[in-house]
Amino acid sequence: MTMSSIKIECVLPEHCRCGESPVWEEASNSLLFVDIPAKRVCQWDSLTKQVQRVTMDAPVSSVALRQSGGYVVTIGTKFCALNWKNQSVVVLASVDQDKKNNRFNDGKVDPAGRYFAGTMAEETAPAVLERHQGALYSLFPDHHVKKYFDQVDISNGLDWSMDHKIFYYIDSLSYSVDAFDYDLQTGKISNRRSVYKLEKDEQIPDGMCIDTEGKLWVACYNGGRVIRLDPVTGKRLQTVKLPVDKTTSCCFGGKDYSEMYVTCARDGIDPQGLLKQPEAGGIFKITGLGVKGIAPYPYAG
Ligand code: BGC
Ligand code: BGC
Ligand code: CA
Repeated sequence: MTMSSIKIECVLPEHCRCGESPVWEEASNSLLFVDIPAKRVCQWDSLTKQVQRVTMDAPVSSVALRQSGGYVVTIGTKFCALNWKNQSVVVLASVDQDKKNNRFNDGKVDPAGRYFAGTMAEETAPAVLERHQGALYSLFPDHHVKKYFDQVDISNGLDWSMDHKIFYYIDSLSYSVDAFDYDLQTGKISNRRSVYKLEKDEQIPDGMCIDTEGKLWVACYNGGRVIRLDPVTGKRLQTVKLPVDKTTSCCFGGKDYSEMYVTCARDGIDPQGLLKQPEAGGIFKITGLGVKGIAPYPYAG
């Protein structure tokens, strides 16, 4: 029998206002992430511990790998390509053009190379916003955009089952992790249902990722934890608490995708609270979980 010994470490004491969208880039042994209100995309090299930061001209809410090189990012209400070497941005498509107060939030690429991302109204304070203003979209490799549904409050975590037949999705203020049947060939979703409702102390479901056993890891905003869920039984299997409350998202990375990286926010914590969680806004690494994740899919366009 093997004993698991979980270790949690702040590997980068960054003061992210709202760190989000952690993505492991195997080719550079680095973690990509964004700081949404700081309008920044960052790349942390796990070997040299150096971080490179590139500032955009509007809030940047997600980053993903791109097959043809560089990255794709959601900036404001635009899907964009980001050339990391010369820091140039090209707009690929725009959404929500009738909603001037909206911005994109979380995004991730599906196993066929489509970039999924949803929107939300801009907040007046964390999780305080005009409701039902958001929608979920995907950017196909040919740059056309598909809209799935609207009436979203805070479009957040997303991932696909290991067999690519289920799409998991979180609209944060529903306090639910939902599943849809997924058609990988066409990118269509259907048959929405809830697979897990958060308990009170778990607070607000935010970013999410899947492990190779098909279990979901959900970062709980204000809950200071990531939880592991079995989407088949609807049971919570594990809780891993972190020394910061505003945990926003998680991904697997590192050697064989056996490490978990967690982002968090600093905005919305008063000076008193910051004394108790000085690492708020940093990047955390969890080791010893005993499960692995999978490589992120690159955008195919
Ligand atoms: C959003 C934040 C929001 C948080 C809690 C994050 O994904 O980017 O703006 O406060 O979720 O719902
Ligand atoms: C891969 C390597 C990679 C390492 C770190 C391993 O699973 O085989 O190519 O560098 O993970 O991500
Ligand atoms: Ca998020």
